[in-house]
Amino acid sequence: MKHPICIGVLLLAATLRAQAESAPHLASLQTCAACHGDRGQGNPALGAPRLAGQQADYLLQQLQGFKAGRRGYDARDSHGAQMRVVVASLDEADFAPLAQHYAGQDAGPVSAPAQPDARGKVAYQGTCAACHGPEGEGYAHLKTANLRILDPAYLERQLSHYAQGLRGADGHADQHGIWMRGIALQIGGDAERKAIVDYIGSLAAGTAGN
Ligand code: HEC
Ligand code: HEC
Repeated sequence: MKHPICIGVLLLAATLRAQAESAPHLASLQTCAACHGDRGQGNPALGAPRLAGQQADYLLQQLQGFKAGRRGYDARDSHGAQMRVVVASLDEADFAPLAQHYAGQDAGPVSAPAQPDARGKVAYQGTCAACHGPEGEGYAHLKTANLRILDPAYLERQLSHYAQGLRGADGHADQHGIWMRGIALQIGGDAERKAIVDYIGSLAAGTAGN
């Protein structure tokens, strides 16, 4: 009679331990909420992007990148530098649980300007879709970001930063960042960048058409 109870207790203990290991520490989540919002919905006024619904592999890789100085390495990138300071104080064991947590959050619909732009569509579907998907959803195996959850100002800033070498520069970034910098350098200026960002917004808002 004793055995089943013992096994039950052992199983319960193992389950609780697994849960403790996979749940991010509450203290970390409260830290993130200050800038990214309680559901990871993001706060454009602070420049903090939406994390809810982002690809988990991408989130994990970015946290590791901030920690290792592959991102936020240039003082002119004040938003990245800010996030790098936050990550420096985190326990690395929390990275994967944090990434999983936010990837699984649903922060509701994205409010995006719904202006389809023919030039943006051609550029996006011709160049970006190969790595970020035709709907901007990102691919886990390529460690690419889900772009359709991101606000326009954040998208613009990242594309400019890649082009300026504030993100993705040789000697700082890994292969993924360097790839993306190479792509950003091919965007033919402010007007084309804006057209692409508008098109991503229209994908998110469901107004991109066919
Ligand atoms: C002081 C404000 C602040 C706090 C606190 C903060 N962040 Fe951030 N975070 C930012 C900003 C600003 C950016 C945008 C950086 C940039 O523009 O490169 C960012 C970017 C990120 C990114 C990159 C997202 C992407 O799409 O590339 C991740 C991942 C992230 N934060 C996770 C977290 C987590 C997890 C926490 C809590 C442990 C946290 N942040 C706490 C301000 C903050
Ligand atoms: C060869 C594959 C590839 C192509 C093509 C590509 N990307 Fe990326 N993109 C990536 C990877 C990988 C990352 C993550 C890089 C890193 O870790 O910094 C990324 C990151 C980004 C980010 C940062 C997301 C965030 O949350 O901070 C933006 C914005 C972006 N890409 C937009 C675009 C746009 C717009 C295009 C087309 C003009 C494009 N990408 C084409 C691979 C690609």
